[in-house]
Amino acid sequence: MKTALITGITGQDGSYLAEYLLSLGYRVVGMHRRSSTLNFERIAHIQDDLVLEPGDLLDEASLIAVLRRYEPDEVYNLAAQSFVQTSFGQPVLTGETTALGVTRLLDAVRTVRPDARFYQASTSEMFGKVAETPQRETTPFHPRSPYGVAKVYGHWITVNYRESYGMHASSGILFNHESPRRGLEFVTRKVTFHVARIAHGLAHELRLGNLDAQRDWGFAGDYVRAMWLMLQQPAADDYVVATGETHSVRELCERAFAVVGLDWERYVRVDERFMRPAEVDLLVGDATRARRRLGWSPSVTFDELVSMMVEADMDLVARQVK
Ligand code: NAP
Ligand code: GDD
Repeated sequence: MKTALITGITGQDGSYLAEYLLSLGYRVVGMHRRSSTLNFERIAHIQDDLVLEPGDLLDEASLIAVLRRYEPDEVYNLAAQSFVQTSFGQPVLTGETTALGVTRLLDAVRTVRPDARFYQASTSEMFGKVAETPQRETTPFHPRSPYGVAKVYGHWITVNYRESYGMHASSGILFNHESPRRGLEFVTRKVTFHVARIAHGLAHELRLGNLDAQRDWGFAGDYVRAMWLMLQQPAADDYVVATGETHSVRELCERAFAVVGLDWERYVRVDERFMRPAEVDLLVGDATRARRRLGWSPSVTFDELVSMMVEADMDLVARQVK
C-alpha cells in the first residue's frame, strides 16, 4: 500500500485529493496546523479513514517528524496562505508560508525521504499581468500580489530541487478551481452563497469588487486528478491545468442568479473595499501538455460548476434556517 502525505488537508483541494487517493487504495496522512477550534468540516466524512498529524509549514522540525514517522511515497504540498487579498495586508506571513514553506518541506523531503515524489501547488496567479494569451508552461511570470510573488518563489525552488538533487518534484500550474467546498471569501463561493441567502430572503444585496476580472474556472474534483497523474509520470515536470475557457465576474453573477430565477443587476453593488491594489485582469490556460502527456481533461463545464455551487448553497442555507 502506498502512503501519501498531504499538507493543507483541511483546505478545499486537500479534501478532494484525500478522497481521491483513498479511492485508489492509498494510506493518506494529512498534516494540519494547530488551531484553538478544530476545522475538519471538509474532511469530516472521511476523517476515520485518514491519519491526521499536526504540523506547520512554518516549523521545519514538525515537517521532518511527520516524514520520519510515515515515510510517504508521495508528498502533496497544498498548504499555503492562499487568499490574494489577504496577501496585500500580510505580505510577510504570506512569504513565510507560501514561499519559504515550500523550501522547508522540500529540504525536509530531501533529507528524510529523497525518493519520495513531490507535488507543488503552483498557480496561474504567477502569470499576473499576462505576457500572452492563453497562458502555458513557457509563458513568463509577472505576479501582481505578494501571494503571486511567493508562489513564483515556490515554483522555482521546486524546479531548483529537481535540477540540483534529482528529486521527482513536479509543479502544477493550476488555474482557478472551485467547488461547494470553496472558502466563502473567494468570489465564486461568495456569489453562490449570497445568491442562496438572497433567494431565502436573508440578504438583499451582494457587494463585490472588480466585475470585469476574467478567470478560467474549473471544478476542484477534476484538478486533484491531475496532481496525482503528475506524480505517476516517469519524470517530473511542470504542467498547466485549466479548462481553456474564461468568464468575467459579471458573467459569474449573471449565471448564478439565473439558477434561482433572479436578475443579478437588482442585487449586485460595486464596493471599493473589494478592489485590489494591483489586479490580474485576464487568465485563460492552455492545458495541451496535461492533455497529451497525462491524458487529463476537465469533466465539469462553467455552467455546471455554477449550478452545482448554487444548488449546494441553497441546501446549506435551507438547513441553516430550519
Ligand atoms: P485553501 O482552501 O485555502 O487551503 C489552504 C490549506 O493550507 C488549509 O488546509 C490551511 O489550513 C493550510 N495552511 C495554511 N497555512 C499553513 C501553515 N502555515 N502550515 C500548514 N498548513 C497551512 O486552498 P485550496 O483552494 O485548497 O488550494 C490548495 C493549494 O493550491 C494552495 O497552495 C493554493 O495556493 C493553491 N492553488 C489553489 C488554486 C485554486 O483555485 N483553489 C489555484 C492554484 C493554486 P487551515 O485550514 O488551518 O487554514
Ligand atoms: N474574493 C473576491 N471578493 N474577489 C472578487 C470580489 C470579491 O468581492 N469582487 C471581484 N473579485 C475578483 C478579484 O478581484 C479577482 O480578480 C477575481 O474576482 C477572483 O478572485 P478570487 O476568487 O479571490 O480568486 P483569485 O483569482 O484572486 O485567486 C484564486 O485563484 C488563484 C489561481 O489563479 C485563489 O484560489 C488563489 O489561491 C489561486 O492561486
